[in-house]
Amino acid sequence: MNSPDLPFAPAAERNRVPILEALAPRLAAGSRVLEIGSGTGQHAVAFSRQLQGVHWQPTELPENLPGLAARVVAEGGPGLCPPVALDVASGPWPAGPFEAAYTANTTHIMGWAAVCAMVAGVGDALAPGGAWFIYGPFIRAGHPTAESNERFDAMLREQDPRQGLRELEALESEAERHQMRLEEVLELPANNLFVVLRKRNPAS
Ligand SMILES: C[S@@+](CC[C@H](N)C(=O)[O-])C[C@H]1O[C@@H](n2cnc3c(N)ncnc32)[C@H](O)[C@@H]1O
Repeated sequence: MNSPDLPFAPAAERNRVPILEALAPRLAAGSRVLEIGSGTGQHAVAFSRQLQGVHWQPTELPENLPGLAARVVAEGGPGLCPPVALDVASGPWPAGPFEAAYTANTTHIMGWAAVCAMVAGVGDALAPGGAWFIYGPFIRAGHPTAESNERFDAMLREQDPRQGLRELEALESEAERHQMRLEEVLELPANNLFVVLRKRNPAS
């Protein structure tokens, strides 16, 4: 039950179970996880409770931090760190390294320049061999785009021409420039993907 005083996103309630099912077997016990664009904090609270031994670091744009902080105070547990301000376009980034990073529904909201800044920042923040889990809708070469995603993309671009669904291949190329390679792509409900990028580990 959500407290009426806390920000709430119905989508985050719908998608948290399928995301958790994808995340849980891929996240090493005791991982420090950097979340970007935590929004209402619903995922941060749910995942830090369910994923044993995890240290979850939520972040948000400074203007959206108070709502997130209120949820962490009201519902946070031992695995959930106090949220910190992070605008991926300007930093500063929380001190790493992190064994994992996570972001949901941000790549189509940020402009492409900010997405590139996020890729660079995550590339720096991750420990060698660390994983970046990205959830959201994407356009994917060789896969027809669902009608609902086409409509969503058009709506976003009309509202702000910098927004819009990203091509997964463009994200992959950008990640490659920052020592991360595409490891897995899972199809989740409602035409969303769960993408796993892995930072290279020179020692292995
Ligand atoms: C659609 S919401 C997703 C929130 C949450 N991850 C979820 O799935 O419910 C997109 C989030 O990205 C954040 N965001 C947008 N631009 C950002 C930037 N430049 N740096 C960090 N976060 C940003 C917004 O503040 C917003 O909370």
